[in-house]
Amino acid sequence: MGIFLDSVNIDDVRKAMELGFVSGVTTNPSLMAKVSESPRKVIEQICGISVGPVFYQVTADTPEEREKEGREFHAINPDKVMLKIPATTENMALVAKLKPDIRCAVTAVFSGHQAYVACEAGARYLIPYVNRATRLMGDGCSLVAEIASVVETLEGPAEILAASIKSPSEAMNAVLAGAHHLTLPLDVLLSLGNHPLSDQAIAEFNQNSGRSHQ
Ligand code: E4P
Repeated sequence: MGIFLDSVNIDDVRKAMELGFVSGVTTNPSLMAKVSESPRKVIEQICGISVGPVFYQVTADTPEEREKEGREFHAINPDKVMLKIPATTENMALVAKLKPDIRCAVTAVFSGHQAYVACEAGARYLIPYVNRATRLMGDGCSLVAEIASVVETLEGPAEILAASIKSPSEAMNAVLAGAHHLTLPLDVLLSLGNHPLSDQAIAEFNQNSGRSHQ
């Protein structure tokens, strides 16, 4: 089980790593487009800070170009860089080709059948978009549960890394539906450990302990 940060912001990556319980960082092309540095520079910087895997999503137009792009990014730090490859049949072939050399995640998985073929192709991670699936299909967590059943039926070794999670309750529901790992924006990640009633209990304890020492 691992919690990942979903960000390309270097300050966010530093803050997340300071927590000591964040396993790595996921990025995507939309996040990359929001920063001025090149994707290569961003991945280099994140690899220098992250304790674990750093996911880079390939974007080139053809499978050949995506393979070249993926291999070049993986070479930045072969121990840390993993590739995110969007779910299409063409890309499943790319995953199978890269499998001997590079750990790949199949991303944007919106069905059990895509999860099944991704597993057969050798994907290490399956990435469903929970909130987006809820918005577009009705229930992102039932998608996670369907993918989890596929993984269980095949007896792994692929693991589910749930993404597009917008709240602590959505994070929890994804885990209960069978996600092995979560990737979260910093605000959601930082709110996971909090609850208003915990704050209230802590305030009461502080007040009582203050009284008992008077
Ligand atoms: C996936 O790669 C993303 O990083 C992300 O979690 C998708 O979230 P969105 O649905 O908010 O775009």
